[in-house]
Amino acid sequence: MSGESFENLSYEDRTFTPSQSFIDNANTKSDIYDEANKDRLAFWEKQANRLSWNKKWDQVVDWQLPFAKWFVGGKLNASFNCLDRHVIEGRGERVAFHFEGEPGDTQTITYKQLLSDVCKATNALIELGVKQGDRIAIYMPMIPQAAIAMLACARLGAMHSVVFGGFSADALLSRIQDADASLVITADGGYRKSAAFALKGAVDEALKGSTNVKNVLVVKRTGQEVAWGSKDVWWHEIVDRQSDKHEPEFFDSENGLFILYTSGTTAKPKGIYHTTGGYLTQAAFTHHAVFDLKPETDVYWCTADVGWITGHSYVVYGPLINGATQVMYEGTPDTPTKGRVFQLIEKYKVSILYTAPTLIRTWMKWGDEYPNGSNLSSLRLLGSVGEPINPEAWMWYREVIGKNNCPIVDTWWQTETGAIMISPLPGVTATKPGSAMKALPGIGAEVVDDEGNAVGNGRGGYLVLTQPWPSMMRGIWKEPVRYKDTYWSRFNNLYFAGDGAKLDKDGAIWLLGRVDDVMNVSGHRISTTEVESALVSHEAVAEAAVVGAKDEMTGQGIVAFVILRGGIEAAKGDTLVKQLRDHVAKEIGAIAKPRQIMVVAELPKTRSGKIMRRLLKDVAENRAVGDSTTLADPNVMKLISEGLQSGKSED
Ligand code: PRX
Repeated sequence: MSGESFENLSYEDRTFTPSQSFIDNANTKSDIYDEANKDRLAFWEKQANRLSWNKKWDQVVDWQLPFAKWFVGGKLNASFNCLDRHVIEGRGERVAFHFEGEPGDTQTITYKQLLSDVCKATNALIELGVKQGDRIAIYMPMIPQAAIAMLACARLGAMHSVVFGGFSADALLSRIQDADASLVITADGGYRKSAAFALKGAVDEALKGSTNVKNVLVVKRTGQEVAWGSKDVWWHEIVDRQSDKHEPEFFDSENGLFILYTSGTTAKPKGIYHTTGGYLTQAAFTHHAVFDLKPETDVYWCTADVGWITGHSYVVYGPLINGATQVMYEGTPDTPTKGRVFQLIEKYKVSILYTAPTLIRTWMKWGDEYPNGSNLSSLRLLGSVGEPINPEAWMWYREVIGKNNCPIVDTWWQTETGAIMISPLPGVTATKPGSAMKALPGIGAEVVDDEGNAVGNGRGGYLVLTQPWPSMMRGIWKEPVRYKDTYWSRFNNLYFAGDGAKLDKDGAIWLLGRVDDVMNVSGHRISTTEVESALVSHEAVAEAAVVGAKDEMTGQGIVAFVILRGGIEAAKGDTLVKQLRDHVAKEIGAIAKPRQIMVVAELPKTRSGKIMRRLLKDVAENRAVGDSTTLADPNVMKLISEGLQSGKSED
């Protein structure tokens, strides 16, 4: 990102203060910042006391840059904190999940019921030989068993690696291999857009590769036909007959809790590794402070899938530790009508809604009649996550969904940070439409220039984190050098997040998107290199370059430029383009399908052979092509632009 584009943000002078009654009843007051500033470690110790520890820690943090340990020597069990504690303390009858399947089937699951379901699943995992430290791949639709499976792994001190159900068999295989998973938990399929989709078939396909998977545990969700092999075990056959009692063991604070793969700047996804005590502390604290949860009265709904970090921290761990009552919905927001989410808000009297800008913009496009068709008066707080929210979408969210009555928390964080880092506090902060405002108490964030110097108010630069934090990743699974290089080598002693940001004249933080080769499509991270390598693995493609182009709905859209191999006829362009898009879906998953593929004769490269994506981005965004003087062949951009005008190969 150039210096100029850092600076080009117009100044937003609207601010919205919370109502007096919200301020009066808020979980956190303005003095919390001072408290954290005065003694950061004491502040985090206090937050760690939200959890139930079997043994208290000896040391708050052991920081050997870039490796952190938090609450060293403490012992706890994540599943106990999410479940047993509530039952022991008399909250067993509270609803944990109002589950709504896409076809309209429902389940009401209390904390007591959830504990008993998790104990049964845990006992089944023990029967299948799972033990502390094992890695378990979870590939599921958004149904209660997804959360139950995660909590059962955690209960045993085994690590889950949830792979989003939209990823392909190939993507699943590479994640199973990288983590060396011994068990896969899946379902026959799930419901999406009024149809059953298959998951078990993809697992079967993946397991044709070389793995150490001993069993596949399969939830029957749709009843569709599935192939059955010697490793396969039905969930209902093994789990239902187990005892619903299980005494949890307490594990070290730094025991591995999960691995979650996310795209980096190379073709190989990074296994982001999180441990227990620090992660749970920050997930619970931020869920309490940012969402202002009142567990006895609120109904909280985070629309994220458990396949993403938001589903880990703000569907499973944070809310359950805090004893929240949640809505969990399996399907898409347009099925059977575009008013589905709003109908569910009315039905369950949802008071806190946490969703993504891409969905908010989609709702704007569909029209106000859908939200206006339901009673949304139960809402009292709105949240946003995953990508920058544009001021128009923010204002629409506030006015049409929140009826000007709900504070909005725009929360910035990452798979790597584990929990929210930058966000307003809803009963404290005067918010600006489109700004994540400032670092939470106990968190150090800064915007710096190329040399790592703070830019000061009114200037743009790179977002960095200046202090270790409890829920920080502990590394990239089996790749310590890559961990160091990716996050800790760009600036001295600072965590480089990969995002551009600007401080406005009041010091509020405005996120400006990624500054590396990572795209953000509908709030999902996809690496340009990963899509490029999927494209070149197709026999027709010699070379590919991929850029993220601005997209009104999805934030960014994937645009690919490909050079075909000799002998492949470009005239067959359209069928070929379709084949290539399908090929990317097969290699990575449908979310990575390029919006547009352009067949070109040459790609713009520097003399050292580096593809100049900046120029391709200009083409993809229909702009005049920028400075191309460093190209090895300055004519290339002219050829690409001319070629596109004569035969645009879009589908
Ligand atoms: O670019 C930032 C963007 O999403 C990236 C993290 O993606 P992921 O690890 O998939 O986690 C998404 C959910 C936490 C960040 O580097 N991002 C996330 N939240 C925001 C955001 N960009 C702007 N504003 C946000 N609130």
